[in-house]
Order: sequence, then C-alpha cells, then structure tokens
Amino acid sequence: MNRITDSALAGKVTTADRAAEHIHPGDTVGMSGFTGAGHPKAVPAALAARIKAAHDRGEDFRIDLLTGASTGEEVDGELARVDGIAKRAPFVADPTLRKQINAGEVEYTDIHLSHLAQQVWFGFHGNMDVAVIEVAAILPNGLLVPGSSVGNNKTWLDQADRVILEVNEWHPREYEGFHDVYYGTKLPPHRRPIEILDPLQRIGDPYLRVDPDKVVAVVRTNAPDRDNSFAEVDDASRAMADHLLDFLRHEVSAGRMPKNLLPLQSGVGNVANAVLAGLAESEFEHLTSYTEVIQDNLLALLDTGKLDSISATSFSLTRETAERFNRDIESYKGRILLRTQEMSNHPEIVRRLGVIAINGMVEADIYGHVNSTEVNGSTMINGIGGSGDFARNAFLNFFVSPSTAKSGALSAIVPMVPHVDHTEHDVQVIVTEQGIADLRGTAPNERARRIIDNCAHPDFRDRLRDYHDRAHAQNPTARHAPHLLDEALSWHQRAAAEGRM
Ligand code: COA
Repeated sequence: MNRITDSALAGKVTTADRAAEHIHPGDTVGMSGFTGAGHPKAVPAALAARIKAAHDRGEDFRIDLLTGASTGEEVDGELARVDGIAKRAPFVADPTLRKQINAGEVEYTDIHLSHLAQQVWFGFHGNMDVAVIEVAAILPNGLLVPGSSVGNNKTWLDQADRVILEVNEWHPREYEGFHDVYYGTKLPPHRRPIEILDPLQRIGDPYLRVDPDKVVAVVRTNAPDRDNSFAEVDDASRAMADHLLDFLRHEVSAGRMPKNLLPLQSGVGNVANAVLAGLAESEFEHLTSYTEVIQDNLLALLDTGKLDSISATSFSLTRETAERFNRDIESYKGRILLRTQEMSNHPEIVRRLGVIAINGMVEADIYGHVNSTEVNGSTMINGIGGSGDFARNAFLNFFVSPSTAKSGALSAIVPMVPHVDHTEHDVQVIVTEQGIADLRGTAPNERARRIIDNCAHPDFRDRLRDYHDRAHAQNPTARHAPHLLDEALSWHQRAAAEGRM
C-alpha cells in the first residue's frame, strides 16, 4: 500500500544522503523518538557520515539535538560515534553518548519531559533549524499518521524552519486512530484548561500537521524500533511488587481510593517493569493507566484484561512484543491512546486524574530525598525523564529500588543523597525488597526511623541508625533534620575509595 498519498510531498521523496544535506554545522535539530520508539532510522546515519567527512577534512561539524526522550542506536549511537553532538536534551540512554556526557565532551540538559516542548515555544532553547520526524504514513493535505511514539513531534514540526520526514513501513498503516494530538496549547497569559477528565478522553486530532512548504525531503524506510530488553523478574523485584500491592490494598480498605485504584503511571527500568508483572497476578481489575511509556508488562495487563485502557506518549517494547503488537494492532484500537509528551505528562492532568506514580530510583536518603540520575553525585545515568512530572503531581507516589546495588556493596539508603531529583517535600512512599516506608504526613526524624527500619538492608541498618542518633545528639539546636555534614558526604567518598562504586 502506498504510504505517501499527498502528491506535493510524494514529489519530495529522496535518499537519506540527499535529505541529510539540509542539516548544517551548528544547527539545532529536533528529532522524533521516545524510549527507542519512533526515532528516524536513516537520515541520522547519513548525517553522521556527512559529519565524519567534514571532521576528516578538519572542519567543525556538530549539532544540538533535541528529541522526545531516548532514541536508538540509529540516532544517538551513530551521531555520538562521530562526535557529532555538541548539546543534547532532554533524556539519553545510549552508552556511547552517556560516556561522552560524563567525560564532559557533550553538554546535556536534563529536563522534565513535559517541559521541553513549552520551553522551545517560549524561546528558551533558541531557534530550531531542522526537524527530522518519523511517521507511519502521509495523507493528502500534509496530514501525518504518527507511529509508535508522539513525543515532541508536534512542537518540532511547528517550530522548525525545515522539515525532513521519514515514512517507516515497519509501523503498521493501521496506527491511524491511535493518537491524540492537541493543537489547543497557547502561551501564557492566554492558556486554557486542559480538560482531560478520563485517561482515554480525546481532546485533539489523530494526525500531526505540517506546513508542506517547509518539508525539504521525504525518505522511505522499513526498519524496526529499538529492541528493549528487561532483566528477568527476580526475588527482590517480586518482593517490592508484593509490598507495593499490599500497600494499595490497604489504601482501598481505608477508603482512600476506589477498588480499581486510580490511573497508574509506571516508570522506565527493570524494577518498574517487575512491579507491573506483580499487578498481573493480583486481584485488581478494571485498572487504567495514565503514563508515559508502554512497556511489555503494561501491555500484558491489557492483554489479560486487568487493565481497561492506557494513555501514554510512546511504546518501549521488546522486539518480540512489538512484532506481536504490530500483527494484532487492530485488537488494541480504542484501548490505547498516544498523546504528545506535554499532555501525557502534564502536571495539571496528572493531578486532576489522581495518578498513582511508580518510579525507580538510584538511592534515597534517611529524610526522603531521592536521587534518580547521578551515581556518586556526578556520573549521569539517564536523566530525570518523566519521574518528576508524575511524582510531584501524583495522588500517591512510590519510589522503588533494591535496598543495595553492586551485588550488595552499596546501600540504596544513605545519610544524604549527593544529588537530589525529588525532594523530601514530594516523596511519599519508598519501597525496597526489605519493606515499605510510608512518609505521608511525617516529620524528618520520623521519616528517618521509618526509612532505616523498613527499607534499609540489614547490613547497613545499624550504621544508618548510629549516624542518625549521633547527628541528633551532636546538634542540640538543629534537630529538625540533623546531619553531620562531613560524615554524610564521606559516606559516598568512602564507598568510592574502597572501590564499591
Ligand atoms: N549506587 C550506584 N549505582 C547504582 C545504584 C546506587 N545506589 N543504584 C543503581 N545503580 C546503577 C546500577 O548498578 C545500574 O548500573 P549498571 O548497569 O552499570 O550496573 C544502573 O544504576 C541501573 O540500575 P538498575 O538496578 O538496572 O535499575 P533500573 O533499570 O530499575 O533503573 C533508574 C533505575 C533510577 C536508573 C531508572 O529508573 C531511571 O533512569 N530513572 C529516572 C527516569 C525515570 O524515572 N523515568 C520514568 C518516568 S516515566
């Protein structure tokens, strides 16, 4: 079936190499792509070849790259390997790029995922020169059928001076009808309420729009999204899921939420995926999800009928599950809606719907500050992603992690986190395989006792208790959240010096 039925845009079909010639040194480029889904598959490699040739000639050629979230080997991998990225936002997961960021070779702006689109509209990131956007089909009048993610594509198409489209036939043509692209966003002071009252409520169009005059090239591709692998669900993950589910049961019996809970958000990573596996075996029915990404186990909940509907901005599936989804896509119609990421993660909607937010963390401190992004305060892992969008505005938020990392050498509960992504004012419930600490309505010292007693690993519990007791004893006039600063900081220094980091 012909995927490009607009005659003006069909006339712009060309090769990836020719398309990449529209991207110049120093350009700010907005590309599609969110957690390995829906990123362009051909033009970035052609651009990387152009960049390499320029570097071989001794010329400077790097771009600033904005996307939805992480992309795939074909974008971040290709461009990082030729040192083609000067600046990157808002989220990364590529190992080569992560190394360059941590080596100080690439500037990385780690931003809440709901914020980037509006910041580009506000002009905070300068002019966008080019957008490279993958779609499933082009309809007459320049209407675009998105594929496996929407991300920031609407904004990049609006804002860029020049647009390159990739039409990827790996995405089923039947994606038409799975998307909700809201065109009502205005800038302050003219903003209107975003009236989403139910996770599956449509407020926009099923298509992306583009001004055909801005389109400089259209490239045909047929290539799969990233194959996202997950660790096997282990005993620790199962224990965390059990604690979390017991907690939710308790909330239902206390009358604080309905029997089918409230819309669920679950973050990226192995632990979040494992928690979803726990829900599959639970008694909960007719669940809904207002989330950012659809991982394998979330789709499984829809398959088994536990979950009625999912609103998200992207898929993030294993290849096997993606191929199965592509084959059976019609059976999911009307149960999944993909929105722009400014809407999937919108604070106003998250708060109105009363989302239950479940996100991974690197570590938490005894007062409830959470670090999700920087090992030892300095080495970036991925980025904050949507965890702040959801946690800060959720009805109830959970941060989950095994109680230790690096085969038990490091405690995930520490005296003071060396980097804060979620503050004590936002964090409500901490979960490890050891247990659960309900921090709602607690003051710092109560929090410390609960976190240490319930969540810390027994190997570290006494050391943490001793720290808290001494901090209390030695600060007679500063006991609200007492610290021994030198010692708090030396906790991580010691681990690094002993080679445990
Ligand atoms: N100290 C040092 N390193 C630690 C650590 C700690 N306390 N805890 C985890 N790590 C390391 C792990 O060793 C691993 O590194 P490795 O691959 O080199 O071994 C890495 O961090 C990931 O940990 P893992 O146990 O595999 O956890 P995960 O896959 O569940 O991911 C986060 C955990 C925090 C990295 C992940 O949830 C994340 O990126 N969160 C921020 C973004 C987010 O929440 N997005 C969701 C919004 S929808």
